[in-house]
Amino acid sequence: MSKRLEGRTALVTGGDSGIGAAITRELASQGADVAINWHSDNGPAQELGEEISRGGVRAFGVGGDVSKEEDATRMVEETVARFGRIDILISNAGIQIDAPALEMTADEWRKVLDVNLTGQFLVARAAARHFIEQGVGEGRRSAGVIVCMSSVHDVVPWAGHANYAAAKGGVDMMIKTLAQELAKHRIRVVGIAPGAIKTDINKEVWGDEEKADELRELIPYGRIGEVDDVAGPVSWLCSDEADYVTGTTLYVDGGMTLYPGFIGNG
Ligand code: BGC
Repeated sequence: MSKRLEGRTALVTGGDSGIGAAITRELASQGADVAINWHSDNGPAQELGEEISRGGVRAFGVGGDVSKEEDATRMVEETVARFGRIDILISNAGIQIDAPALEMTADEWRKVLDVNLTGQFLVARAAARHFIEQGVGEGRRSAGVIVCMSSVHDVVPWAGHANYAAAKGGVDMMIKTLAQELAKHRIRVVGIAPGAIKTDINKEVWGDEEKADELRELIPYGRIGEVDDVAGPVSWLCSDEADYVTGTTLYVDGGMTLYPGFIGNG
């Protein structure tokens, strides 16, 4: 069976951990070369790069903070310099700094907006510029694909996480607007909105039996998600099989956005 991303090159921001690392592995297993962005420690990206290289693709780690304009631009440029082109951007890097709104500091608000919204814009802009320059390559249907990491909290309000929910709500309109603006260049911009997926970001919840049970109540499908639940759909979204999909977000949430409180109620 041919691999759906054979010969494609990708940059995955925050590609060294959590959902990002699962996406890195999945893209590589589908034949893509992957630049793995890391933020504070190059070790995990290096190890992951060595692991996926054994499968026959090219990989390297690229340090940088997506919220800094020069870093965002440089990580895209390094990808192009190493691989010759960039076909796919997975704009995945994100953080949570939780606090009740009444206690949230301006810094906590700004930091999350900077990484989760402005950072996504900066990397997307840098990638889109390269996509336009390279055009639709031989054997390809688009000039490039941008997949933005959203969340169920782009539509589900989340008390105690005003900064995070505001950023993800912003990501939704950014995706739609960029998709509208860039379609003429044959660039697709799509979102992926995970629900509760077991990673370090929410370990405090799924790692505690009682809290995990309460969380499962919010998921009609009855289980907390795994990183691979997200990685497979992302690799499809990046592929030419999804060439007519743009400006929309795919929810990968076990039904979390289906108002589970209404089950047997109302
Ligand atoms: C958050 C997780 C949370 C999930 C569902 C994600 O966007 O990062 O911490 O478990 O949404 O609430």
